[in-house]
Amino acid sequence: MNRAEDNLKPTIHLADYRPSAWRVDHVELEFDLDVESTAVLTRLHVRRDATIAAQPLRLDGESIDLLEVRVDGQRLRHADYTRDRTSLTLPAVEGPSIVELRSRIRPRANTLLQGLYLSGSSENGFLLTQCEAEGFRRISWHIDRPDVLSTYRVLLRADRERFPVLLAGGNADGAGFLDGGRHWACYLDPQPRPSYLFALVAGRLQSIEDVFVTAEGLRVRIVIWAQADAISRCEHALKCLMSAFAWDEQRFGRSYRLDAFHVVATHDFAMGAMENTGLNIFNTKYLLADPEHATDDDYRHVLAVVGHEYFHNWTGNRVTCRDWFQLSLKEGLTVYREQEFESDLASRTLRRIEDVRTLWRVQFGEDAGPLAHPVRPSEYSEINNFYTATVYDKGAEIVRMLATLLGREGFRRGLDLYFDRHDGQAVTVEDFLAALGDANGRDLTTWLRWYQHAGTPRLEARGTYDATARRYTLTLVQHAPSAHQGVWEPLPIPVSLALFDREGNALALDADQVPDGVLLLDAREASVCFDGLDAAPVPSVLRGFSAPVRLDGSSSSRDLVVLATHETDGFNRWFAADSLARQLFVETLARGRPDAGALAGWIGALRRALADADFDPATLAELLTVADEGTLAETLTEIDVDAVHRARNQLQLMLAHALETELDACHHRLRDAATAGMQPAAQGRRRLRNRCLQLLCVAHARHLDRARAQLAAATTLSDQLAALTALVHAGVTDAQALLDGFAQQHAGDELVLDKWFAVQATDPAVATLARVDALSRHRAFRWDNPNKVYALLMSFASRNATAFHDIGGGGYRLLGDAILKLDAQTPQVAARLATAFGAWQRHEPLRRALMHAELLRIAASPSLSADAGDIVRRTLGTP
Ligand code: TRP
Ligand code: ZN
Repeated sequence: MNRAEDNLKPTIHLADYRPSAWRVDHVELEFDLDVESTAVLTRLHVRRDATIAAQPLRLDGESIDLLEVRVDGQRLRHADYTRDRTSLTLPAVEGPSIVELRSRIRPRANTLLQGLYLSGSSENGFLLTQCEAEGFRRISWHIDRPDVLSTYRVLLRADRERFPVLLAGGNADGAGFLDGGRHWACYLDPQPRPSYLFALVAGRLQSIEDVFVTAEGLRVRIVIWAQADAISRCEHALKCLMSAFAWDEQRFGRSYRLDAFHVVATHDFAMGAMENTGLNIFNTKYLLADPEHATDDDYRHVLAVVGHEYFHNWTGNRVTCRDWFQLSLKEGLTVYREQEFESDLASRTLRRIEDVRTLWRVQFGEDAGPLAHPVRPSEYSEINNFYTATVYDKGAEIVRMLATLLGREGFRRGLDLYFDRHDGQAVTVEDFLAALGDANGRDLTTWLRWYQHAGTPRLEARGTYDATARRYTLTLVQHAPSAHQGVWEPLPIPVSLALFDREGNALALDADQVPDGVLLLDAREASVCFDGLDAAPVPSVLRGFSAPVRLDGSSSSRDLVVLATHETDGFNRWFAADSLARQLFVETLARGRPDAGALAGWIGALRRALADADFDPATLAELLTVADEGTLAETLTEIDVDAVHRARNQLQLMLAHALETELDACHHRLRDAATAGMQPAAQGRRRLRNRCLQLLCVAHARHLDRARAQLAAATTLSDQLAALTALVHAGVTDAQALLDGFAQQHAGDELVLDKWFAVQATDPAVATLARVDALSRHRAFRWDNPNKVYALLMSFASRNATAFHDIGGGGYRLLGDAILKLDAQTPQVAARLATAFGAWQRHEPLRRALMHAELLRIAASPSLSADAGDIVRRTLGTP
């Protein structure tokens, strides 16, 4: 078979959605589990939906050996059904029936990381499943779409010694021994759910557990499972999970309703984690954490992802999506809930700054390139390629805007109604907006435009002051993104706003004009006037980044300095300082150096923050972090990566030199932070300390000794890695020896070695290209492990512009080879790597041509998968 042709998937359109003519009320599954060959017996209790025009029963199924089909006990002959590569059609089934299918699948040979597969070795690894989005059809036959909801009964049988632990979603419903050293376990899920939430796990796993008593009075066993090497690092995750259960009750009134909640850790996972009902599966990267083997960032990521998957229980599982176009209905809303969870439990300001940074770098970047799509796409060919920053992060920003608009209570009322109305249903974005609107007596239909328009809108804010009238007028205008074609209906944009005087004192705003400090711009243009002002005020627009728009840089640097010095909220102060730094960057790029006055203002604001003993250390660390090259390049019409790198370095160097004394003192003052434990406050101080160290090492080589001392004395991985990175990226002559020492100390520790790969892959030095190539053959590197691939190759391609965009084209060739190699095993991972070519059209002509040639070479591969093919063709603009 010609795979490329085979792999062309049809385009699916939202407008073509039709409900299924068949319902599957109940699914019975029986597995005889074995690494090589697993037998699956499936009984589907099907019935026609009388309200829908009759259609033959068609089941999805791929890469499954079908052995036998029975309908209501009667064995079908081959002539009674038709089968192709992806489906089975049973014209003989007409009314309510039990369709029984006996089949066989091959877990060990399955390298896709979806369906039933093996994590680890044949002898000691374990079996697990990944179904979202369309993996269930690789396990068994089903109408594999999210609006077909069924209850499940799952019976697992396996060898007792090889597979002592047998888990599936739902409530345990018996277990026992069988002849021949085998045993069984049964699970029942009484809540109707789509097939993408099915999961099973079988193998040698250890566990830790706790009990949570819900507000509704249910005692829930919370259990985390991992292999022997990892179980001792799951305590933090268990605590986070207990907090997540409690938080969703307190903040959103949502309780869990099954007897047990299981979480399983695997090293071999394509994404972060998966929210299967009652049986979450996690990439170890987002579950394991202890001081020696995890950084402070890892600790917060575990908190966030554990929360995220748990919160899906209500936003995604109990209320699910009608079709995959509605993906953001669960993902955008759940990311928002995850953000709020981390904000309440760790640092709100830090989380918001990080989210806004990623939004700019990744989502705005996506919106500005050939892969741009609406938060609710109108068509797709490979759904796996729509788990994007737009669907997740811009989707979360829309939910955040709605929460801002409705206020905390109003938003809660809206969500309560959404859960009340739709528990047990598969619904749409329209249903979500209707519930929020109905609960608040508002019509939110224009908000649908946020889900429908691709691209980042521009917001222009212009202020004029009339001294005689003592009146300040602020005019807000929204513009369609430059690439937008067709009609652009104005979006509802909440613009959070404050005014300050030149000394930095906040001015009181008229509550009628700006209720709760938020102006809702729901037309193309609007103006507000503020009277009784003795001088032109300093406007602080889009506080908290209240909408995912590009704010036109109309603020003067003088105004930004006032805000960077006096804004009352940490995020807004960072936002002003960052806006100022971007202006300085643009000037440096254009004229070789920034405006002296603006530079002095920026440095002055940072110096003042450093001198303020009460200033939040984590926020201060972010104030001292110049936006990364990707973010800075993102606003340019044509990117010259070398020039961007030089200009950013220059800016960072000026900062480091000007504040050397203060940074030095701060690093010294915070020396106790090194041993202060893993609480958020200690993590914030460590973040600041390590930011100072990085800047000091940039400022002058004499500070490298300080990094050496820190590397030798470090008791946390954060401190150790910060010092190692500073030294390696400074190009010290013994860098290799330091790296070897680190690798030796952490030999065999997969997750820590991932960081070791990433430190080297992000070194901007010229030699990095050859080093990454060599590291891809290192014995600790594994092509079949997505974490390794992302640590080495994704870090290289997306966080090391100078090396990846090597003028000889070697970086592109390296990535292209990696994509083709991976594509034969795990197409989903290959497709993700291929997105690194997304901005090719915006680079200067030479690199543009090189990237174009590389994309064409990949596209020409005769065996390219549907996943990678879809990304590459859309990136080239040739669907
Ligand atoms: N639903 C998962 C989440 O919480 C995403 C996910 C996990 C996924 N594994 C996947 C999506 C595999 C596609 C394919 O965000
Ligand atoms: Zn999710």
